[in-house]
Amino acid sequence: MLSFVNGKFVPETRAVVSVFDRGFLYGDGLFETLYVRRDQPFRLAQHLDRLERGAEFLGIRLPFGRKAIAAFAARLIHRNALHTDSLLRLALSRGTGPRGYSPRGADMPTLVITQHPAADRPSAAPRWRLATASVRLPAGDALARFKSCNKLPQILARAEAESRGADEALLLNTAGWVAEGASSNLFWIQRDTVFTPPLESGILAGVTRSVVFEVCAALGIMLRERSLRPAALRQQDAVFLSLSSLGIVPASHFDGQRLGTSPLVAHLRRGYWQRVETEIASPPSCMTDSRKRLARTFRDCSTGMDADIDRVRQPSKSV
Ligand SMILES: Cc1ncc(COP(=O)(O)O)c(C=O)c1O
Repeated sequence: MLSFVNGKFVPETRAVVSVFDRGFLYGDGLFETLYVRRDQPFRLAQHLDRLERGAEFLGIRLPFGRKAIAAFAARLIHRNALHTDSLLRLALSRGTGPRGYSPRGADMPTLVITQHPAADRPSAAPRWRLATASVRLPAGDALARFKSCNKLPQILARAEAESRGADEALLLNTAGWVAEGASSNLFWIQRDTVFTPPLESGILAGVTRSVVFEVCAALGIMLRERSLRPAALRQQDAVFLSLSSLGIVPASHFDGQRLGTSPLVAHLRRGYWQRVETEIASPPSCMTDSRKRLARTFRDCSTGMDADIDRVRQPSKSV
C-alpha cells in the first residue's frame, strides 16, 4: 500500500517523518479520518473545512491548497486500487523546528495521507458497550472542536473502557455532563426526539454528528442539543454514537447496565448510509459551488491523470 508524504507517494515501509517532527514530539498537529466508498471519500470538503479551521487556530499553514490535497487523495486511492470501502487519514503537523515548545522556526509543515481497509459493514449494526471514563474533558475547551493530535485523554479513556470489557468510553466534562465517546459523538433518544450535547460542552464538532443533524431534518425527526447527567443516560429510550469510520453505532450497555432500544436508531442508520450512497453517486444540488468544484477535482484526478497533480504546488514555507 502506498502513502503520501509531503508531495511523494511512497511504499508504507518508506512512509516516515523526522524524529524532530513536532507532531511526534508534542502532538503539534491535526488529523482527519474519512470514509471512502467506491473510491470516493465521503464529505471530503467538510473534513478539509475542519482541518483548515484547526490549522488556522493553531497557526499552521497547510502546505498545499484544498484542490491539491483532493488531487493527492484521489491519486493515492487510484494507485492503491483497494476497490473496497476504506479509510483515508490526513495528518498535518507543524513539521520540524528548533528544540522547545516555541513554534518559531518550524515553517515546513508535514502532510501525510494514508489509506486503510475499512471494517466490514455488517447489515446489522455493531452494538457498543460504553464505560464511563475517569478522565474528564474540559468544558468549553476551544481546542476540542478540532481534531488535534493531542488525544491522551481519549487514549486513556479507551484503554480504561477496554480493560473493563467495554468497546467505547463515555467521557464526562469537568462540569459533570455527558460529553462524547473517545472517538465518537454521543446521541440519545427520548420518545420521538434525538438529543446530543452542545459543542460548548467541550466536544469535537464531528462531521458525522452534522450528517446526523441533516438526516434528522430530512426524515422530519426532531433533534435538540441538551446537557445530560450520566445517571439520566440510563433512563433514555436509546443511546447511539456517531463517527466517520462506522457511521451510526447503537450502544447496548452503559457501565454494565443494559440500555433500551428504539426503532429510530435503525431508521437513522439507514438514512445515514443512503445519504453516503447518494452523495457518492452524485453531489447533492444543495452543495455549494466550491464544494462541487472540489468534488469535481477529486473525480478528475481519480482517473489517474498525473497531469492534474503535476500542476499542484509543492510544500511552501509557512509564516
Ligand atoms: C473525540 C472524538 N469525537 C468525535 C469523533 C467523531 O468525529 P467524526 O464524525 O468527524 O469522525 C471523533 C472521531 O475520531 C473523535 O476523535
